Amino acid sequence: MEGLGLNPIMKRTKVIDALKCTDFGADICVKGWVRSKRGSKGIFFVALNDGSTIKNVQIVGDETVIPEEIVKQITTGACLSVEGKLVESPAAGQASEIQATKIDILGTCDNTYPLQKKGASWEYLRTVAHLRPRTNTFGAILRIRHNMAMAIHTYFHEHGYFYFHTPLITASDCEGAGQMFQVTTKNLYDLKKDENGSIIYDDDFFGKQTSLTVSGQLEGELGATALGSIYTFGPTFRAENSNTPRHLAEFWMVEPEVAFMDLDELMELEEDFIKYCVRWALDNCKDDLEFLNKMVDKGLIERLEGVLKEEFVHLPYTEGIKILQEAIKNGKKFEFPCEWGDDLASEHERYLVEEYFKKPVIMNHYPKKIKAFYMKIDAEKPVLDGKEMEETVQGTDVLFPSIGEIIGGSVREESYDKLMGEIESRGIPMKDMTWYLDTRKYGSCPHAGFGLGFERLILFVTGMQNIRDVIPFPRTPKNAEF
Ligand code: 4AD
Ligand code: MG
Repeated sequence: MEGLGLNPIMKRTKVIDALKCTDFGADICVKGWVRSKRGSKGIFFVALNDGSTIKNVQIVGDETVIPEEIVKQITTGACLSVEGKLVESPAAGQASEIQATKIDILGTCDNTYPLQKKGASWEYLRTVAHLRPRTNTFGAILRIRHNMAMAIHTYFHEHGYFYFHTPLITASDCEGAGQMFQVTTKNLYDLKKDENGSIIYDDDFFGKQTSLTVSGQLEGELGATALGSIYTFGPTFRAENSNTPRHLAEFWMVEPEVAFMDLDELMELEEDFIKYCVRWALDNCKDDLEFLNKMVDKGLIERLEGVLKEEFVHLPYTEGIKILQEAIKNGKKFEFPCEWGDDLASEHERYLVEEYFKKPVIMNHYPKKIKAFYMKIDAEKPVLDGKEMEETVQGTDVLFPSIGEIIGGSVREESYDKLMGEIESRGIPMKDMTWYLDTRKYGSCPHAGFGLGFERLILFVTGMQNIRDVIPFPRTPKNAEF
């Protein structure tokens, strides 16, 4: 019985192990929550789930053995401890079941339980996000989420990257988009201001203005230019007022940063890494994926297997604009314009990925003016319709079917002078950036990295449609419940 979690002193066996066990006749104890109960003629059947697997174990109870007082309290959602014998199941679809000899009610559950009904809407389940992990779908999503975190750590560990912890509280704005949540201990109703009306932070906790980080990249670059290859993986925060199915105010980001990496190697890393994670899900989350494939998205497993077979398209931004403008000439209607220099809207990205190429696209060589200050400037300017365009940078966005942008990354500008030029022309406060500039001042090296939105990966791998449903407790504008 060793190794199966079964033991003679009746410690509990996880349902996942109980279902694998063929040691029929053995004593067993399982604990979990009632998913359903049915019965007839003095025999009742309970589907018990303990979260270790999407599958339930069937408990068979005899009303001459289990007292009526107890049987009455076995209701949907109640928590039970069941002792009994593991027996071969006559029912189809399950090898074993448990013939109960003793049932204890650990926690009763009355009919006000919000997960009573099957088929509740996603919107309703968000209002009970504190309980929704107990549903089949959220159990599956959360086990897959855990597995994707394991895939990420394993991938980088196996490839010689060091897990480098970057701070959540910061005084710099990596993306420069001004979407930061401030961190302060000051009384907001009684702020000290100077003669120009600017807040004085001298007496604040950190003695300066601080915020929650939008990205660990800048500190990650310090790590990469010392340890060679690092990754960060943690929460990031954005105060952008985007109420979309793809944006959270608090999301998790994976950010590798690598010394001596060029653009081609970066794109190779982005593709290899995503494929590794998808393969991990197919190899390690079979039961949960099969459930989601049946109940949520019938094309899920096929789409995941498809991505493994595809080679991602490498598409310069200028070529992308050409394709989009050609499509418009041929009658395609978009809501937003797409002239060279515009940030592509999600309808443009979706056209390229879902209709034109029908596979993931890594777009690169973006116009400098729509990307962040740290990206390496291309040596040559692109030409469109015989005309030379403005400067471009070695930025990459990985665009996925139904998700849109899943990764944003770039080669970093390693020249001190060019980087300074960008910082100055964009008006980024210099006093906050000296530590970052030291990477370019002392032994500067070519390097590159990317950020993958963890929840966007989970959306892809689970087939879910709304980012609020792939994180246990979503934070979005006007919502910080639980
Ligand atoms: O493209 P972004 O803004 O890039 C950076 O932050 C870089 N500093 C990363 C780097 O190079 N180390 O964000 C990276 C990814 C996006 O591609 C997207 O997947 C995700 O983070 N993301 C969000 N996910 C959920 N909610 C939001 N509000 C997100 N904003 C970005
Ligand atoms: Mg981006």
